[in-house]
Formats: sequence, C-alpha cells, structure tokens
Amino acid sequence: MKAFVLRSYGSPDRLTLTDVDEPVPAAGEVLVRVRATSVNPYDWHTVSGTPYVARLIPAGPGLRAPKLTIPGCDVAGDVVAVGSGVSSFRAGDEVFGLLRDGGFAEYVSVHADLLARKPANLSYEQAAAVPMAAVTALLAVRDVGRLEKGQRVLVNGASGGVGTFAVQIASALGGQVTGVCGAPNASLVRSLGAYSVIDYRAEDFTRRGERYDVVLDIAGGHGALAVRRALTRHGTLVVVGGPAGRFAQPVTHVFSTLAVGALIPQQVRLADAVGCAHKPKCLTALTDLVENGSVTPVVDREYPFAEIPAAVRYQMAGHAPGKVVVTIPG
Ligand SMILES: NC(=O)c1ccc[n+]([C@@H]2O[C@H](COP(=O)([O-])OP(=O)(O)OC[C@H]3O[C@@H](n4cnc5c(N)ncnc54)[C@H](OP(=O)(O)O)[C@@H]3O)[C@@H](O)[C@H]2O)c1
Repeated sequence: MKAFVLRSYGSPDRLTLTDVDEPVPAAGEVLVRVRATSVNPYDWHTVSGTPYVARLIPAGPGLRAPKLTIPGCDVAGDVVAVGSGVSSFRAGDEVFGLLRDGGFAEYVSVHADLLARKPANLSYEQAAAVPMAAVTALLAVRDVGRLEKGQRVLVNGASGGVGTFAVQIASALGGQVTGVCGAPNASLVRSLGAYSVIDYRAEDFTRRGERYDVVLDIAGGHGALAVRRALTRHGTLVVVGGPAGRFAQPVTHVFSTLAVGALIPQQVRLADAVGCAHKPKCLTALTDLVENGSVTPVVDREYPFAEIPAAVRYQMAGHAPGKVVVTIPG
C-alpha cells in the first residue's frame, strides 16, 4: 500500500510517499481502508517535531527522530477485515476514528475501541473532518465546560477546526454563543449559530466588560488573569490550545494558564482529546449530533492524497476556516 512516511523532523516535504506493507489486524484490531483523512495541528507538530520541549516527554514524539513514522490521526473509511475478538465491526462497515497515527495511508489497522460508525449523512471527506477537532470541541463544551442551557459561552478561535465544531455544539446544547474570529470569517461563525461575533484584530474580548459563564480558549493569546475579566464569578475557562512556537509554545501557554488558574476563584480546566479515554463514546455522540442536523463539518479545502504535504503546509499557516481534508482514492 502507499503511505506518507516520516523519517526525520522538518517541513511537510519530509513526508514521503512510500510503498509499505499493508498492515495485518492483530487481536482486537480492525483493518480500515482509509477513504479520507484530515489535517490537524497535532499532525504538523508531529512532522516538525515542535515544540522542542515536547520531545523531552517520554511518551512524546521522539527526541532525535519521530517515533510515529506514518502520521495522521483522523480517518474515515471502510472495514476490510477484523482481528480475533472483534465483534463490534465487520467487513464493509463504514467507520471513522481518532487514532494516534497511521491515517496518512491507504490502510490502517486500529484498535476497535478507537472507531465508531460513520454518520450516514456524511461523505467520507466530511466524516474525516470530525474526529480530532469535534471530539476536542465536545469535551471542551460539554464535559469540561459543562455548558448549561441558556448560559453565555465565548469561543476564542471560533473559525478554525475546533472552533467551528465548538460553536455548533454549544448552540445545540442551548448556549448563547459569542465567537471570536477574524472579520472575514464573521458570517461563517454566525451561520454556525453564534449570537454575536468579535473581531480579534479590532477588539480584545477580555476588555469589553462582557462576562461569560464559559470561555473556550482555543486560539490562546490571553492568560488566565486576563480571561478572568470576561468570566462570571463562578465561570469556567476551558483551555484547549494556544499560539504555536518552535521551542515551548503552546505547552507553556497551556500550563501557565492552568497554574495561574489555580490562584483565581473561577475554574480553569484543560480539554484534552489526545488523552481522552472515551473517544468512541464521543464519536458516537457526535454521530447523533450530525445525523440530527445539529452539527455539520465545515470543510475549507480538499486535497488529493498525493498532495498531503501541501495540505499540511496550508493547515500549518493557521488560518483555515474549518477543516482541511484529504481524499484517498479507492
Ligand atoms: N487540547 C486538545 O486536545 C487539542 C485538540 C486539537 C487542537 N488543539 C489545539 O487547539 C488549537 C486550535 O486547533 P484547530 O484545529 O482549531 O486549529 P486551526 O483550524 O488551525 O485554527 C485556526 C483558526 O484560529 C483562528 N485564530 C488565529 N489566531 C487567532 C486569535 N488570536 N484569536 C482568535 N482566533 C484566532 C484563525 O482565524 P483567522 O484566520 O481569522 O486568523 C483560524 O480560523 C491549536 O493550538 C491546537 O494545537 C488542542
């Protein structure tokens, strides 16, 4: 099979289209014919090996060279075969999943616990847009932010992969949503259910005198003390991401916000999709939201499989409204 293989850290051009052996599903695994994948910041952090500080973590991407040789964490495709002990899927099932790696390939063998049934009303490309970004958004809004009907929620970074899902999920849960994004994406964010939109280049949401029950900080750029000005007395700041850097960002932003958060009366908590232990349950909840029309993936661009390096480079520029997806021909 063909796969994009990463042998050393660097630019997206280090991803090399290579012939590799097709994986064989081990016990508990499912072999998936990947029909589409999508690109997340997680993928280009893996490719570039940044921030460098992450390489020092024992479970991290690898100190000198990448441990993950085939990146790609979002997949949508068809089950081809199952390993022993798998009863939840069978050949021909349409699935999608949130993996650690292996998605930039024609086939991937993945533990059955990381997959869920693909929403019936989505194409493979739309379904591949969902896993990482929408699971993060669901965790942030529902599980960590604990948004309740009628509460005011601000989504900082509302036009990106995570943000476009967060706005829709928060609206579906009955929240009154304010989105923070660049002016060109204001109408998109409104169309997803935002009640009001703030242009981050023109206004600082922490200095408007407005207060929110929940603030989702996806884009970063403000510490806990600044965001506190925009939180109600019992409000919650949910930390999702932050500005990227070569050496330590967004790790320093996330952990300094959590550390300072421990000193203020409001809740400051992390939403972590990578470490989430119930990804398939989240995917199933998202399938319900998609199939009942509450959530529709926003796909900015579609790239053919051979152009995965270009897709990663585009996502890495940080201004994609919605998701960047990749089609893998059958
Ligand atoms: N915690 C987790 O488990 C988890 C999971 C997934 C992602 N993340 C993190 O979450 C962050 C966002 O991920 P993503 O997939 O949504 O990325 P993305 O799709 O690249 O998001 C980019 C969006 O952010 C907007 N933006 C940039 N600077 C902004 C600012 N100062 N204020 C408001 N919006 C701004 C951009 O809008 P403009 O074009 O208008 O600038 C663009 O639409 C990243 O740091 C990522 O690493 C964390």
